Amino acid sequence: MRRKVIAGNWKMHKDLSESQNLISKLTNALNKEETKCDVIICPPFTSLSEAAALVKNTKVKLGAQNMYFEDKGAFTGEISAAMLKSVGCEYVILGHSERRTIFGESDSTVNKKIKKALSSGLRPIFCIGESLVEREKGITNEVVKRQVTEGLQQVSKGEMEKIIIAYEPIWAIGTGVNATPQQAQEVHVFVRNLIGEIFGSDTAEKQIIQYGGSVKPDNAADLLSQTDIDGALVGGACLDADSFMSIIKSV
Ligand code: PGA
Repeated sequence: MRRKVIAGNWKMHKDLSESQNLISKLTNALNKEETKCDVIICPPFTSLSEAAALVKNTKVKLGAQNMYFEDKGAFTGEISAAMLKSVGCEYVILGHSERRTIFGESDSTVNKKIKKALSSGLRPIFCIGESLVEREKGITNEVVKRQVTEGLQQVSKGEMEKIIIAYEPIWAIGTGVNATPQQAQEVHVFVRNLIGEIFGSDTAEKQIIQYGGSVKPDNAADLLSQTDIDGALVGGACLDADSFMSIIKSV
């Protein structure tokens, strides 16, 4: 049995004091619960250092939302993997559709980031997913296959075990329209088989594949009950401790 992983992607929300507030509420609530899943939060860069102090010795693990693939240098505004490690991050979201569409990240950029994260000891949460037009054209599998194969170029079997995949159909992100459990399950099976073809069936069997896109307290249980959905990457609903807790409790 794969242990489910619930991750919260805060995106560009919460200043420092709001972050402290949310994390305190969350860790207090989690202290009182027997959780059946792993919990990761990904606050903005400016809150990471403080967040690391607040989640220390709690059930919550820390991730960032992005990083650059170079070690250091003249890359104004960028953050390196080593910097994330130095403030206590264990995870980093890479290839999120907002990075791809708004900031022009290609599969090959995402691949460079994944390799750098892995060699630096960070665990990537590798996001993939099709747009509405692609789904309507019937090319979802084709798109996801390209993202997976190009994003995972030169990643070893051992490294693959450090990666969490997040299937996030773009049309479901922030729209309130989640993929149905069946739609998500279908793509998850496709992705798991693909991982099997590339890395072997033992790796595929262990692979954590999260679903993301309008996961809310009222749809989480249905989505998470699917055999191949191993957790959720939650945006909007993770910004409130009660709603994030209710998703965590639905595992
Ligand atoms: P959403 O975002 O839950 O607000 O749809 C999910 C994500 O972008 O990771």
